[in-house]
Amino acid sequence: MNISVLNKIEEVKKTVKNWKKDNYTVGLVPTMGALHKGHASLIKKAKETCDRTVVSIFVNPVQFSPNEDYDKYPRTLQKDTQLCEELGVDIIFAPSVEEMYGAGNMLSNTALTFVCPPYNLIDCMCGKSRPGHFDGAATVVLKLFNIVSPDYAFFGQKDAQQLYIIKKMVKDFNLDIKIQPCPIVREDDGLALSSRNTYLSEQERQNALSVSQTLFKIRELYNQGITDTKILTDSAFTILNQNIELEYLEFRDFDSFEKVIAAKSNTLVAIAVKSGKTRLIDNIIL
Ligand code: PAF
Repeated sequence: MNISVLNKIEEVKKTVKNWKKDNYTVGLVPTMGALHKGHASLIKKAKETCDRTVVSIFVNPVQFSPNEDYDKYPRTLQKDTQLCEELGVDIIFAPSVEEMYGAGNMLSNTALTFVCPPYNLIDCMCGKSRPGHFDGAATVVLKLFNIVSPDYAFFGQKDAQQLYIIKKMVKDFNLDIKIQPCPIVREDDGLALSSRNTYLSEQERQNALSVSQTLFKIRELYNQGITDTKILTDSAFTILNQNIELEYLEFRDFDSFEKVIAAKSNTLVAIAVKSGKTRLIDNIIL
């Protein structure tokens, strides 16, 4: 079957309804486009797991703050479609903002219903510098789930906080969808793939390599038996390039999302930085 690029919610619902009549399992890979090898790994996993695969491509305005990069976020639909076609995706769902949120609506919670994730999950880490981001991301993901009715949805572990919040939303709203986390994909030199890497100058990219190196150093020290997160943090900071602006480095239990003082198995070590003007995140799980 050739790939279809659908812009209308009703078209997607109709197609999925027909698939379900034939008992096909449906996988959804939600994205904002500018697809890279990280997205490709999610799509491959979806293809392996499900009979039919939908990739949504939608730069979701309600998860960007006014001072963020919504307008300049890369939009590469033609290239993305080509990649999806090569990977055997069945449908790309690429709606307009009006299609998703209704024409003429103010994109705020005075006009629209929003998902409100638990406060302790959004008032920390990326949520601190990006107020409203996770409400907006969870809201669009819930809408996508209702439109596509997937059996499985695939999310990158790079956005670990988002992944945790989506899993919590699925549990709290009793959604019958399996969330499949997929490992971070890195360049050969360790840089975690991100659509925002395209903003980096050569020098900024070079400096940003110290971000994953910091995490790898933490893993190395942990594997040597050091669990005190203060010691791990201090030693790792010797690696972080001095031109990198640190936003946070946090240790969290990836089951409860509680802060961790003594690192243990399943501890998420998450970092957010700026290299130049570009905000980057990365993480490892011990
Ligand atoms: O991770 C992303 O690309 C976005 O936050 C998502 C899940 C597609 C929602 O817009």
